[in-house]
Amino acid sequence: MSARPDPEALVAGALDRVAAADGTEELRMLEAELAGKRSPLAAAKAALAGLEAGERRAAGMALNDARRRLEEAMESRRRELESSERQARLATERLDLTEAVPARRRGHLHLVTQARDRLEDTFIGMGYTVAEGPEAETDWYNFEALNFPAGHPARAMYDTFYLEWGPPESTLLRTHTSPVQVRVMERSEPPIYVVVPGRCYRVDTPDASHLPVFHQIEGLVVDRGITFGALAGTLDAFTEAYFGPGFRSRLRPSYFPFTEPSAEFDITCVFCKGEGCRTCARTGWLELGGCGMVHPNVFRAVGYDPEVWSGFAFGFGIDRLVMMRHGIDDIRELITNDVRFLRQF
Ligand code: DAH
Repeated sequence: MSARPDPEALVAGALDRVAAADGTEELRMLEAELAGKRSPLAAAKAALAGLEAGERRAAGMALNDARRRLEEAMESRRRELESSERQARLATERLDLTEAVPARRRGHLHLVTQARDRLEDTFIGMGYTVAEGPEAETDWYNFEALNFPAGHPARAMYDTFYLEWGPPESTLLRTHTSPVQVRVMERSEPPIYVVVPGRCYRVDTPDASHLPVFHQIEGLVVDRGITFGALAGTLDAFTEAYFGPGFRSRLRPSYFPFTEPSAEFDITCVFCKGEGCRTCARTGWLELGGCGMVHPNVFRAVGYDPEVWSGFAFGFGIDRLVMMRHGIDDIRELITNDVRFLRQF
């Protein structure tokens, strides 16, 4: 009787070695050694030929069973090793994109910048986009296209810094953000829902409520069927969104060449919440800015048909708004750069 191969003995040691393999490369070599053409298993299989038929059948089944268990063990070890090698590779390739934040914060945004950001956010929340325009402007955008023809008395409302560029008084530092209304309309088609924050300039001697450089935010809406009621409702919604519940707005008749009708808009006095105090001259209201329905001549200047399109505009001072919100009584504090003042906000 020829020696019968013992599959159990063959496999037992092999399974231990497979479990101990600690890399896919090592495992690949083990696979060749333990289950390849020159392996003891292959030899055992060849040896089956020499057995008697009955014995061969039983031994063959045992051998197949052993091979199957060994292959399963190798397969599962391979999956484990591949996964841990992949993790290790990812760990070494990992890029740390974390921004280095200094432990101690040095400084923060200026109060006016904070206000500008919040104003933009408020209007974006109401469906507006944000646009910008140049601070050095031409007479056409700052005045002419806004329905202030040369010599118009309303030009006297704006003490203008002129630049030495081109013909006399043809180029200037914008006196308000309204010229950007014209620029936005020139480069786009209605519907338009836009706000424009930015720096403005007027010849003024600095005092508690004036600076020659200040900030405004302009609003412009152009669409079909825009009414004065939409303007009033928008300013009221803005007032509540920006200042908080209980703050309202009201409109008073006024005059601007580029709107008709025009109005000043007031908001609930932030100091007395409408009760009446010294700051609001006991009216309960503080004046914030100007507004009105876009004048047909402004539409004509940009080639819009005033019979088809209607719209409203508004504009107000960001510095003034900041002073109101924080009870600052001298606008010069905003540019003195005294850290003891700035740190408070
Ligand atoms: N531009 C005006 C100013 O600086 C403010 C203003 C008034 C803007 C009425 C507007 C408006 O858009 O409709 O005094």
